Amino acid sequence: MLNLGILISGRGSNMEYILKSIKQKKIPINPVIVISNKSDAKGLEIAQKLGVKTEIIESNDFKGNKFEYDKKIIRVLEKYGVTPSNGLVCLAGFMRIISPEFVKKYKNRIINIHPALLPSFPGLHAQKQAIDYGSKYSGCTVHFVDSEVDTGPIILQAIVKIKKEDTEKTLSKRILKKEHQIYPEVIRLFAEKKIEVLGRKTIIS
Ligand code: GAR
Repeated sequence: MLNLGILISGRGSNMEYILKSIKQKKIPINPVIVISNKSDAKGLEIAQKLGVKTEIIESNDFKGNKFEYDKKIIRVLEKYGVTPSNGLVCLAGFMRIISPEFVKKYKNRIINIHPALLPSFPGLHAQKQAIDYGSKYSGCTVHFVDSEVDTGPIILQAIVKIKKEDTEKTLSKRILKKEHQIYPEVIRLFAEKKIEVLGRKTIIS
């Protein structure tokens, strides 16, 4: 079975849904480690309660050199068996851009969730960006990570209608519900080897 490592920075609600789906035997994968770049991430406690090991690798001191920091992450991932040949790395609200070296080493084995319909509204405050732009629909996207920000091959998306009275908070809440559905689903598809990557495209069987 594949080993799963999850990277978080905060609340960890996506991580929680993923770990609960695994516990309910809906996903054939071993959740071996949750890593946070913030020592006060709420998700750390949730992971521990669900019986998953956690490690903190503070990123404060590594603002300049992304790969120096990522080497520390890779060391921990490898220690727990999340290797490029037998691992999957999920970014779940991990608010750091990862280095091209890390992406290359774990080619098509790092997945991210973003709260917008990519390629629209990458980056921070994606929900507010969609409202401010006047979009009628937004949603969320699960994609492979490549060396740019929020640009890798798209795996699954879910759509959410934007209401005229929506604020960043209300829209984020409805998008998050969809995130909790599609992220575990993508991990299941990956674990069952049902996702093929062909250039920019993914094919789901
Ligand atoms: C989620 O909405 C996720 O899509 C977003 O951060 C939130 C984390 O929530 N990620 C990004 O914006 C990445 N660009 P969570 O910690 O409760 O899963």
